[in-house]
Amino acid sequence: MPRNFLTTADWTREELDGLLDAALRFKRGEDASKPLAGRSVALVFFNPSLRTRASMQVGVYELGGQAVVLEPGGTSWTLEHREAVVMDGDKTEHVAEFVRVLARYCSAIGVRTFAALKDWNEERRDPVLSAFAKFSEVPVINLESAMHHPCQALADMLTVRERLGEGRKRVLLTWAWHPKPLPMAVPNSFALAAAQMGHDLTIAHPPGYELDDELIGEINSRAFDAGATVRVTRDIEEAFDGQEVVYAKSWGSKLFYGSAADDIEERAPYRREWIVDAGKMRRTDDALFMHCLPVRRNCIVTDEVIDSPASVVIDEAENRLHVQKAIMAKLLG
Ligand code: CP
Repeated sequence: MPRNFLTTADWTREELDGLLDAALRFKRGEDASKPLAGRSVALVFFNPSLRTRASMQVGVYELGGQAVVLEPGGTSWTLEHREAVVMDGDKTEHVAEFVRVLARYCSAIGVRTFAALKDWNEERRDPVLSAFAKFSEVPVINLESAMHHPCQALADMLTVRERLGEGRKRVLLTWAWHPKPLPMAVPNSFALAAAQMGHDLTIAHPPGYELDDELIGEINSRAFDAGATVRVTRDIEEAFDGQEVVYAKSWGSKLFYGSAADDIEERAPYRREWIVDAGKMRRTDDALFMHCLPVRRNCIVTDEVIDSPASVVIDEAENRLHVQKAIMAKLLG
């Protein structure tokens, strides 16, 4: 079993199934164990959060422990993660000390560190998360990094399983228009987890919004191993045909990474077309509508769809709690 929970790619299909089974036991009230009794978990937030922060704090409490929430640059010192740098700028403390100190107090460290959307070649390597994992002497849980949001992806897989049962499903990940460029962590992790779980995956996006080449290679490989298929399309209408799950998310273009103005201008023509609406949902096989939240209504999805019985966005948010309890219990139990 991996020491950390950084990406689902580090975990086998059997291990992920085990986490989903454990999450369901927590959800159904069949497991009231307290593996964190007398222990603490540090939750480090470089970025804002509703679901992740609340569900992790509640989850740690329900497992018998306590959460220590830190916000670098706010309630704790600004942090440097690069190695061999002269720290004469605005960063006060290095991750090397920060993480090792925390590990003396806490049994695990969760960290949220979004992509800064400045330098694609640097951020695709997940430098801050990697520094935490390198220096930590206790398990590290990725609470959304530049490249991955594995807790969200696992909650999404649980939601699909609960609503549609076990086995292979037809799943669409569709890009959607948004007023500013967003990181790729959620689509990356959803596509990867869907492939690992053996779902037939369609990824729809306009030209220029391709996911990372290396990651697409990994997604294809995992899908092949699981006996599933992956296809990419630029046709937003046909993409919906016969799908059982529609997962909407916006993300920025690698071509305009670090240039928000260019990215916004580039995708302006897609505003009317790349939205999940009732007409597109009618092309599906009564698909679930999914989104990680927060969502901009009537940009990503119409009110009609998100307020319809097909929408499972609140279940996805609830399932964050149950899967994260399963992850912590596995890593620390
Ligand atoms: N989906 C998700 O991670 O939500 P928050 O950003 O509110 O934590």
